[in-house]
Amino acid sequence: MPISTPFLSQSAFLEGLPIIGGVCAATTEQVIPVLNPATGETITVIPRLGASEAMRAIKYNVEALQSWRCLAAAERAGMLQAWRGLIIQSRDDLARLMTAEQGKPLSEARGEIDYAAGFVEWFAEEARRTYGEIIPSARDRRILVIKQPVGVVGAITPWNFPAAMITRKVAPALASGCTVTLKASELTPLTAFALARLALEAGIPPGVFNVIAGDAPEIGSVLTSHPDVAKFTFTGSTAVGKVLTAQCATTLKRVSMELGGNAPLIVFDDADLDVAVAGAITSKFRNTGQTCICANRILVQDGIHDRFAEALAARVAEFRVGNGLEGDTDQGPLITPAAYRKVRDHVDDAVRHGARVVTGGQHHDAGELFHQPTVLVGATEAMRLAGEETFGPVAPLFRFKSEAEALALANRTRSGLAAYAFTRDMDRFWRMAEALEFGMVAINTGVVSTETAPFGGIRESGLGREGSRHGIAEYLELKTISLGLSGQVQA
Ligand code: SIN
Repeated sequence: MPISTPFLSQSAFLEGLPIIGGVCAATTEQVIPVLNPATGETITVIPRLGASEAMRAIKYNVEALQSWRCLAAAERAGMLQAWRGLIIQSRDDLARLMTAEQGKPLSEARGEIDYAAGFVEWFAEEARRTYGEIIPSARDRRILVIKQPVGVVGAITPWNFPAAMITRKVAPALASGCTVTLKASELTPLTAFALARLALEAGIPPGVFNVIAGDAPEIGSVLTSHPDVAKFTFTGSTAVGKVLTAQCATTLKRVSMELGGNAPLIVFDDADLDVAVAGAITSKFRNTGQTCICANRILVQDGIHDRFAEALAARVAEFRVGNGLEGDTDQGPLITPAAYRKVRDHVDDAVRHGARVVTGGQHHDAGELFHQPTVLVGATEAMRLAGEETFGPVAPLFRFKSEAEALALANRTRSGLAAYAFTRDMDRFWRMAEALEFGMVAINTGVVSTETAPFGGIRESGLGREGSRHGIAEYLELKTISLGLSGQVQA
């Protein structure tokens, strides 16, 4: 079923417009088309906003900050809970909108709406737990530490999770008393605009949460250099993250960066084969391979290699590939022609260097941006896919002999986001958990993402953590209060 503009007006809140200061910002002459990657059709066009709208949004944030931060935590929590309720009520509309602009299967889009709502609920609860400290000190002094909101937050989010990456940043920022201007991806702005509209409906005051999109370098430059923005947060590629971090240095903003990964997934001889195959599928093929934590290199020990390759390929060959809005699908399109090209290049390069295709390996006839889910054996470090994120549905298997060899191979990357290992040996479980140099390690599961756990990487995968009780700390400053005392209790 083709998605067109009338779809957007089926629900009042899906107007497809940015929100600045509580009203729609629709006043630019230049527009950007929003495409459905499954069909190439234009869903709608959005205004192409730039530096002046970014500055206007920050001005509204500044004006709204004082009254927002002075609310009781319970009042902010109540509005966040109301926002969560509206997101859940609109789950189906939001999921269809997301699938239309992003391409992920509808079941995954529904799952992402739940994931996104989970962050709002979690941080609504955390709003009331930003406890301070009292530190024992000298006889004539007491030291108190309180936590206060950082201030105005600038945020930029990616296209691969058009809802969850937003709530993972915005919910803790709002819960702590900050105000936010978010630049959504120009590829998937509609879900973001709808979320902002729902936030207003939930009672979050105008100007507290603005959502814009348009000229990415212009808006990015304002968000990273404006003196009134105290904190900047970004999810996206390592290359862009480095540029934005450097831009933030001029005003020394607090920064958190959730950047690219190159996740190893290690299958040892002693692994449960079914568990390892299921874990590899979950990790590798979620969102058609387009996540920063997708297994990028699958390292398989000699003794289990052939059975694992056969079982994985059999499951992958059964995937239903197609437009997520039409029937049940497991895999959707790549997001852009450039993303598709990279996947093709990685497969071609791997085959040229000696990899063998077990299943897939070709374009998929569901549409221009579809690639067959692929399993390759004989992958080596000479191939591009060993050093770069493929960000697509390609599972390359690297064969290894010893634990030491696997560990060295796994850690040989400048990235450090997520790693996976499958083993039934408890000693090896601990060795892997401690020796894999990544921010997140999953053992015997392909899942690491949840609002309850810290998410983030080390080395060139980023700075800071999102989710969990640590996620709200990114939006709080510590203030030390030194309290002088005189006199003693008289006998
Ligand atoms: C990402 O790809 O950066 C996010 C994945 C997740 O939250 O699970």
